[in-house]
Amino acid sequence: MKIIVAGTGYVGLVHAAVCSEFGHEVIAYDNDVKKIEAFSSGNTERITAYVNEPGLADILRKVHGKHLFFSNDLADIVEGTDVIFLCLPTPPHMDGSTNLAFYDAAVNEIGKHLSARKNLRRVVVVNKSTVPIGTARHLKQILKGLGVENFGVASNPEFLAEGTAVPEARKPDRIVVGCEAEADFVTLRRVYAKFVHHVQTKYIETTPETAEAIKYVANTMLLTYISFWNGVGAKLGEKVAGIDIDDLRLGVTADGRISTWGSFVSNGAGGSCFGKDIASLIYQLRSLNVNTKMLEASYEVNENQKTYLVDRAITEAGFQFNNKVVAVLGLAFKKNTNDMRDASSIKVIESLLGKGVARIQAYDPLAIEAAKFHFSPSKNVLFEKISYHDSAKAALEGSNALFISSDCEEFRGLSRTIEDTVRPPYLIIDGRRMIPDYEAVIEKGFTYLAVGATVMGDR
Ligand code: UDX
Repeated sequence: MKIIVAGTGYVGLVHAAVCSEFGHEVIAYDNDVKKIEAFSSGNTERITAYVNEPGLADILRKVHGKHLFFSNDLADIVEGTDVIFLCLPTPPHMDGSTNLAFYDAAVNEIGKHLSARKNLRRVVVVNKSTVPIGTARHLKQILKGLGVENFGVASNPEFLAEGTAVPEARKPDRIVVGCEAEADFVTLRRVYAKFVHHVQTKYIETTPETAEAIKYVANTMLLTYISFWNGVGAKLGEKVAGIDIDDLRLGVTADGRISTWGSFVSNGAGGSCFGKDIASLIYQLRSLNVNTKMLEASYEVNENQKTYLVDRAITEAGFQFNNKVVAVLGLAFKKNTNDMRDASSIKVIESLLGKGVARIQAYDPLAIEAAKFHFSPSKNVLFEKISYHDSAKAALEGSNALFISSDCEEFRGLSRTIEDTVRPPYLIIDGRRMIPDYEAVIEKGFTYLAVGATVMGDR
């Protein structure tokens, strides 16, 4: 079976790699020539500069040239293709709606080549990246309009989390396939043959609209659950002396119906999906005249969560940021990734700059290059105040306060580094509760302000 994966971002490249491991002939297509060259090179550094996903470069080296091929020439590859997965960027507009400009341009290009096929065997064109409900229908109209013959459309959303995408793609918890025609269900069953009757994978066949909705509802539910803990659990821990948020979490999640995932309070959830998908679902529901109060609250709690620790530092710890040097650790939206999309650190740094800090000394084990790009001084002169460091210790040197903004494992052992590098009076703002031995730090005179807890340095 011959498969094209169009678009080689996180979703497309992982999907192409793992599908080729299943033994299919896969051609990963992208119109970015440099990307295609990097992925074909087998060079880990060049590959991870685009997609930094543990285990991915190893698979590419193993299957490239055997089951997996790369191309930037559609005319060359569409002939004889059974399935085309669309893994295209769908960024948000300001109002939350989805910008389908890239998607439409790519679909038109693909459709143009499909309509010129000599071999008219059936081809299924599948939406893999998250697209608004109804996009499979929209896709069908475009392809029909271009005169493409003998095709079907499908929705097959991906549910992978960054950092663990490869093992999750190899052993998915579910595969959701939405088609209109039985012939297309049959083709996709061949793609996912090893999972159709798998004990650990739920193989769900449904309508394209349901498949599209499953992705939005799942991501919106996950973010709402995180917002619940940040908006309720964390606030109780912060306002009521004596409440221990970790014990609260243990007690509540002991109920098998309530998940542990998502119950870890934080300075907000980021990433390429949650914020974008909830904003898009709010937009889609509003256009159906549905009241979206609950989702708006969930979105708002998450956004407020990103900066409220900066405000708490002023109101509860009495800290003045003006002219201070602040170390910010953790720039990516979570551990084990260099992805800065919607990262809480962006809001934290913007807020600190707005409060007049003299300098921000930033560190992240993977995301420095991405951060330099994001905070380019050409976008805002204030970004000149950010310096980048190659260790947590180097970022701490000479600072007056520290903000921990992601859950990188190495930040857990930070108390010794803090004690060895800076002296009280010093404020530690912990957005991820990464300092388990905070009491020892407090004893040494540091002020410790964590999400989900009262200002402990003042007790
Ligand atoms: C998410 C979904 O998990 C995945 O199914 C979907 O396909 C894409 O979006 P991802 O964005 O990679 O995946 O990140 P995830 O691991 O879910 O974390 C999202 C954010 O929530 C991160 O900022 C993370 O730190 C935060 N988070 C997660 C919390 O704040 N608390 C938690 O308990 C769990």
